[in-house]
Amino acid sequence: MDTLFGEISVETFLREYWQKKPLLIRNAFPDFEPPVSADELAGMALEQDIESRLIIQSADGKEWELKHGPFSEETFAELPPSHWSLLVQAVDHWVPEVSELAEHFNFLPNWRLDDLMISYAADGGGVGPHYDNYDVFLIQASGTRCWEVGGLYDENSPRRDDVPVMILPEWEAEQRWELNPGDMLYLPPRVGHNGYAVGDDCMTYSVGFRAPSHQEVLEGYSRYLDNLTTAEERYADPDFKLQNNPGEITDQAIDRVQSILRRYSEDRELISHWFGEFMTEPKYPDQAGENSVEMDEGEIRNLLSAGIPLCRNEGSRFAFHRSGDLFILFVDGKGCACSPDQIPLAEQLCSALYHTDIPVGDGNLQLIKALLLQGSLYFLGEE
Ligand code: SIN
Ligand code: CO
Repeated sequence: MDTLFGEISVETFLREYWQKKPLLIRNAFPDFEPPVSADELAGMALEQDIESRLIIQSADGKEWELKHGPFSEETFAELPPSHWSLLVQAVDHWVPEVSELAEHFNFLPNWRLDDLMISYAADGGGVGPHYDNYDVFLIQASGTRCWEVGGLYDENSPRRDDVPVMILPEWEAEQRWELNPGDMLYLPPRVGHNGYAVGDDCMTYSVGFRAPSHQEVLEGYSRYLDNLTTAEERYADPDFKLQNNPGEITDQAIDRVQSILRRYSEDRELISHWFGEFMTEPKYPDQAGENSVEMDEGEIRNLLSAGIPLCRNEGSRFAFHRSGDLFILFVDGKGCACSPDQIPLAEQLCSALYHTDIPVGDGNLQLIKALLLQGSLYFLGEE
């Protein structure tokens, strides 16, 4: 773990680079063996359930074409010899070895992780100069990619309106690096970048993080509160004093509104319950529960006693929040309070993907049963 940033410790990375400035790490993953080959990646892009894109550009960078998967074998057969890139999202959800790769980043909260995307590019291929609103670790998996980096951009920055992908027309590179297999580039949000393949067979793994916008926080929390307020709870002014002009919205009126808002914004229990559920909502809600397994406690006991590893569904999100005696486990958008005997297992599940040596107590059996049924856990070999 400590070798991920070479000479730099994780603490130094967090203090000096995380969310602040780019960092290139040569040989972050020595002898990197990509767990997914280019052919396997192309195969994934044929699948209905897997989110994929093809970006094809003209060699002069003027024209850009965007196609969404699933693709067919013919699409790949018809691609030009250069200047295209295939991007497949959330490969970690489908390939356990890729999910394990994302675990190298668990010095950050796992509920901040969005997904691990893999791109394949033919010579010259890339997605063009753009910025993202998220932190990303770009691991070169095969071939060579040139990364040009520079400047901070936002939604007011000029962008081309005649192409289907974000292209910053005024973007200029300040730094330029060629990345070879095992090298990694960290980019904070909003830093302009342009990565293009130098030669064929360029594969890049992007470990992308996510952060809700203020709008999403306000909207999400309001929607959650919707179920918790009644029509009778209203702006009230029993202390109303005569005012000179009936049209005036007085300071006292604003105080009353602010006290409504404060009541919810100061309720940490409500906020934490909402936030845990919100941040663990699955990336692909339509696919949630597809792996649901109904098992009784006796069967679960037998599998645990036989040492069969219990695994987190790779597409599931686990987190917990503790406040005093209250411990809430959040899994795939659902929060549930754990009894004291369930807390060690809940913590264990949140900290890693695979688990053995789980004590076979009643509380654990109930928790595992519920999470198997929800499709958020599976026993290795029993899926
Ligand atoms: C890639 O082309 O692999 C990464 C795309 C990006 O810069 O976001
Ligand atoms: Co980007």
